[in-house]
Amino acid sequence: MDESNFKKDNLETRQVWDANAAYWDEYMGEGNDFVEVLCWPAMKRLLNIPPESRVIDIACGNGLTSRRLSGMGFNVVAFDFSKAMIDMAIKRTSPKNGEIQYHVLDATDQEALLELGEGEFHGALCNMALFDIADIKPLFKSLSILLQPGAPFVFSVMHPCFNNPHAALVAETEDRSGEVITEYSVKIDQYLTPRVDYAVALKEQPKPQLVFHRPLQILFEHGFKAGFILDALEERAFPPDHPPGKTELSWGANFSELPPVLVARMRHIQG
Ligand SMILES: C[S@@+](CC[C@H](N)C(=O)[O-])C[C@H]1O[C@@H](n2cnc3c(N)ncnc32)[C@H](O)[C@@H]1O
Repeated sequence: MDESNFKKDNLETRQVWDANAAYWDEYMGEGNDFVEVLCWPAMKRLLNIPPESRVIDIACGNGLTSRRLSGMGFNVVAFDFSKAMIDMAIKRTSPKNGEIQYHVLDATDQEALLELGEGEFHGALCNMALFDIADIKPLFKSLSILLQPGAPFVFSVMHPCFNNPHAALVAETEDRSGEVITEYSVKIDQYLTPRVDYAVALKEQPKPQLVFHRPLQILFEHGFKAGFILDALEERAFPPDHPPGKTELSWGANFSELPPVLVARMRHIQG
């Protein structure tokens, strides 16, 4: 992936999310299995800050996590660079969700990010979106300024080792001493090199989206270089008693030893 080319990729990404917003909103609603079972329980656990804290929800999409955060008593500032997504978020949010400030804002634009308020935030969250963002350097740099010292930045991503655009879910049947068994695995043929690919997150979505794969060492390096440390990590798989996925080869109980999602907490410790 040529990060210097990110402006072109970033523009295309925004156009794709604008085009997919209505479909995404209808399909995702207030969450799905990935959110309920894999992402949200771990993110909630790792965020671990008192109610009334001021929290940023990065790349909030239709606001499904913004409303959950607000429901936990946080004062939420949420943003996404797709205006169509923010329109969906506003439409879905009612006074009973508490006060959420929504902004149309590009996570690659450091100057705009800093206008949210330097040193004003007690936490930040980004659910399943860092791999959608063409360049995450400006975001980490900005968070190092927006967050109070030691405040957590919690994010979930598709696990780069097991669930990247070059992962193939595999089923193999074999006769083991007279018993026919099926083993499930993930085949990965690309990992170390950061790259951009097209991918489909939701079946029949209007346009394929760009996905920015970063191996773990690059993903966390962006944080380390901006003065963050990693202080918690959870690798999240569906439990063996979870209902099977839509097909035998969907993420679900058949892959209970292989985590499709990684949730991490980083904290800014140096100025
Ligand atoms: C997979 S969706 C996740 C949305 C939301 N966090 C959720 O949990 O449903 C990814 C979101 O990232 C947003 N996004 C991608 N690049 C962005 C950028 N540079 N700045 C802000 N938002 C961005 C997209 O518009 C999209 O809404």
